[in-house]
Amino acid sequence: MQKSLIVALDFAGKEDVQEFLAHFGGEKLYVKVGMELFYQEGPGIVEYLVAEGHEVFLDLKLHDIPNTVYKAMKGLGKLGVGMTNLHAAGGKDMMKAGLEGLMEGASGRRPNLIAVTQLTSMSEKRMQEDLMINAPLNEVVLHYARNAFESGLDGVVCSSLEATMLREAFGVQFKKVTPGIRMKEDSMDDQQRVVTPMDARIFGATEIVVGRSITRAGDPRKAYETIIQQWQGVEIG
Ligand code: C5P
Repeated sequence: MQKSLIVALDFAGKEDVQEFLAHFGGEKLYVKVGMELFYQEGPGIVEYLVAEGHEVFLDLKLHDIPNTVYKAMKGLGKLGVGMTNLHAAGGKDMMKAGLEGLMEGASGRRPNLIAVTQLTSMSEKRMQEDLMINAPLNEVVLHYARNAFESGLDGVVCSSLEATMLREAFGVQFKKVTPGIRMKEDSMDDQQRVVTPMDARIFGATEIVVGRSITRAGDPRKAYETIIQQWQGVEIG
């Protein structure tokens, strides 16, 4: 199975996206469109990327009542996304409604739907104090992932450090899409817990999401190639 590297297009607008993609000379990528870009450019940016032949993970993390999520997902399904997500905290009914909407919108295609368990920016202390969830963080992640699994979702967004636990519980097919990836020599930026692409593979991530290590590199294409080779198990240099 070819493991995917998803490039986070964390840019403020379409021009920046085009400038970045120009480094890849027409190569088709798997890209992530998040809130920043989507809320600036609207659904058109997704349609544009899909029309250019790229696979799109639309990272909007929906969380609302089931009927609203159903309708919103139906709209997202029509955009041609390969994968999108919602918050497991919305509960099983919401996740099932989201999946139904996405499939209806995609009419026949079956985009992947994954859930956010706890954001990696959330510490155990904050979760217990702010959210009044009085359980260990790992148990909460596992419980939310089980809800996603039982709701028919394809996987979760998680830290690489949680991937092994989730692989043991739900198998290799259940997606463990993990951000927080850095090469050894990179800056951590605002990420707290980072792992290398090679460690992500060993821990059981199924897709990695990489932003700044590629988008801010002097030579983005070279950074992309190096990371993908480490991720897919081919050592270089
Ligand atoms: O630049 P960097 O590689 O840190 O980008 C990681 C991407 O993954 C960003 O788009 C960020 O919003 C996203 N992300 C994350 N942690 C999560 C969920 C998404 O870093 N828990």
